[in-house]
Amino acid sequence: MKTQWIYIKDFKNHIGEEIEFRGWVWNKRSGGKIAFLQLRDGTGFVQGIAEKKNFDEEQFEKIRKIKMESSVTIIGEIKRDERSPQNVELHIKNIEIIHEPKDDYPISKKEHGIDFLMENRHLWLRSKRQFHILRIRNEIIKAIRDFYNQNDFILIDTPIFTGSIGESAGNTFSLDYFDYGKVYLAQTGQLYLEAAAMALGKVYNLGPTFRSEKSKTRRHLIEFWMNEAEVAFYRHEDNMRLQENLVSYIVQKTLENASEDLKEIGRDITKLEKVTAPFERITYTKAIEFLNKKGFNISWGDDFGADEETAIASQFEKPVFVEKYPKKVKAFYMQPDETNPDVVLCDDLLAPEGYGEIIGASERIWKEEVLIERLKENNLPLDEYQWYLDLRRYGSVPHSGFGLGIERTVAWICGLEHIRESIPFARTLYRVYP
Ligand code: 4AD
Ligand code: MG
Repeated sequence: MKTQWIYIKDFKNHIGEEIEFRGWVWNKRSGGKIAFLQLRDGTGFVQGIAEKKNFDEEQFEKIRKIKMESSVTIIGEIKRDERSPQNVELHIKNIEIIHEPKDDYPISKKEHGIDFLMENRHLWLRSKRQFHILRIRNEIIKAIRDFYNQNDFILIDTPIFTGSIGESAGNTFSLDYFDYGKVYLAQTGQLYLEAAAMALGKVYNLGPTFRSEKSKTRRHLIEFWMNEAEVAFYRHEDNMRLQENLVSYIVQKTLENASEDLKEIGRDITKLEKVTAPFERITYTKAIEFLNKKGFNISWGDDFGADEETAIASQFEKPVFVEKYPKKVKAFYMQPDETNPDVVLCDDLLAPEGYGEIIGASERIWKEEVLIERLKENNLPLDEYQWYLDLRRYGSVPHSGFGLGIERTVAWICGLEHIRESIPFARTLYRVYP
């Protein structure tokens, strides 16, 4: 019988069996009589053991000197070993080197600076910590999709090329689009989701968005992924309930399905366990009062920066909603509060532990005249928004929605110092390579 190819994640079900392994040698430690090869195959990490007595001289020397990141197939026996994280190891009987690097692998055990690691991101992805982070990202996105599927939302894939600026004119990427002229890369899919919500009720998207922001903070990317939802007939309150249910679902499902990965990267899980709905709410106005008491030099009407957000959020163990910002610091489409038209029915959800805004949300203006006025105030060309205004001309209803930044959410759940590690290939102010 031919030996079966088994992935490391399934080794525990094949103890005592001879199997085939396909993967890479990510590290090694060799003595005179025994070589320990640290192996990985994309599903996990395991130790392989080669004993000199089982090989001829030349073969054992090859194993002893094998270069890091050589790709190999191995025939070996899986044995129980209580000391290793997997509780198993692979006793090597035969090894075939598929490809051995000529040079030493650039990423070694020694400490590397972040610029070097980002320059070698295509290789850095192979390291243990990045492996776990990307698996957690995968679980987070899976949880998001499951949440919407369980709650009867319809997936709407919104376009990347758009003629209508979705957020603000200040940070768009524009390019020439055949005879049409200037178009933009989507900052958001929201406007299109609003159209879809009038057709399908409850809708969501998940895709890349682009902001030409000259910010070099640990929270900003130039290209980031956003999950947005939009629901017909939802008001501000319904919107916040949906957001807290989504965020607590994401955190709880990630704890359920990726607890090993979270532990491997050293995340304090007790902090995440507390993230269950409902979340606290404070108004923007209350937040300003709080900040002034704390000695911040900020007045009503100013927007929050990272320090202000961190100070507000650090009073709470869970994410906190800050609602009803001044109209002038928020986007054109937000519904003014009837009881105080200087503020809009919006919320930002701030993550704890200094991770800042993970969601931006609002009720939308649903009356044509009000929207036209706001478009004009923002110097946006009415021509490009005729389709968007049509939504207010034919069976308009109040509706609300939000956008959740995937990378900010991953950075928070993983406890990362910087957002650049939360996405496979980050696009930042100074980097589009690799
Ligand atoms: O608050 P924002 O700009 O909201 C919108 O785009 C709305 N149109 C969403 C909607 O209502 N459908 O962005 C939403 C979220 C932010 O809360 C943040 O998490 C993330 O997207 N985000 C960024 N993440 C990384 N890098 C950037 N430069 C980001 N800008 C926003
Ligand atoms: Mg925002």
